[in-house]
Amino acid sequence: MTNIVLFGPPGAGKGTQAERLKTNFKLNHISTGDLFRSNIKNQTELGNKAKEYIDKGELVPDEVTIGMLKEAVKENQHGNGFIFDGFPRTVAQAKALDEFLLTLKTEVHGMIALDVNDEVLVQRLLERGKTSGRADDANEEIIRNRVSVYYKETSILKDYYQEKNKYYSVDGVGSIDEIADRLAQIVEKL
Ligand code: C5P
Ligand code: MG
Repeated sequence: MTNIVLFGPPGAGKGTQAERLKTNFKLNHISTGDLFRSNIKNQTELGNKAKEYIDKGELVPDEVTIGMLKEAVKENQHGNGFIFDGFPRTVAQAKALDEFLLTLKTEVHGMIALDVNDEVLVQRLLERGKTSGRADDANEEIIRNRVSVYYKETSILKDYYQEKNKYYSVDGVGSIDEIADRLAQIVEKL
């Protein structure tokens, strides 16, 4: 089993590359952002709660996100492992993920970061906002808040995985194919 955390700021290309990894390595793609959006669309209790944070570009409280993630993992026990996309985003989430995977007798094998500079991110997200229908992609102020939340709360996770010798990074600028190749070279060795 291979479990990967795909890491990087909003707009780094995690979702796009997760789909490639899913196909190439037969992994389950678990995107907490997508799960939130589907809950919001279906107006579930969880969705209504998450919406107020997501619309502002803030993080949904850990206990909500962690509970949702665990359910998704339990419901998808097939394939060769998991790609976690957009999770963990805080140290508490990373610790919860470690404990949870331990109960399933497995672990995170590697975190792979997609490196992309901030101005490229903002431009990509504004461009995506024209077609994604995501309110949090449509407004530059919200986009900049998401990037700033990433640096304040999420980027520290690099150290968390580096201490466990589980941190890898690839250049996230280039064609989708080129970046997919860079990721595949790492995943093959995990
Ligand atoms: O991962 P993605 O960029 O699709 O997430 C969209 C939004 O969902 C984030 O900006 C944040 O508001 C919320 N989110 C969160 N905690 C996570 C993942 C997503 O609060 N672990
Ligand atoms: Mg995404």
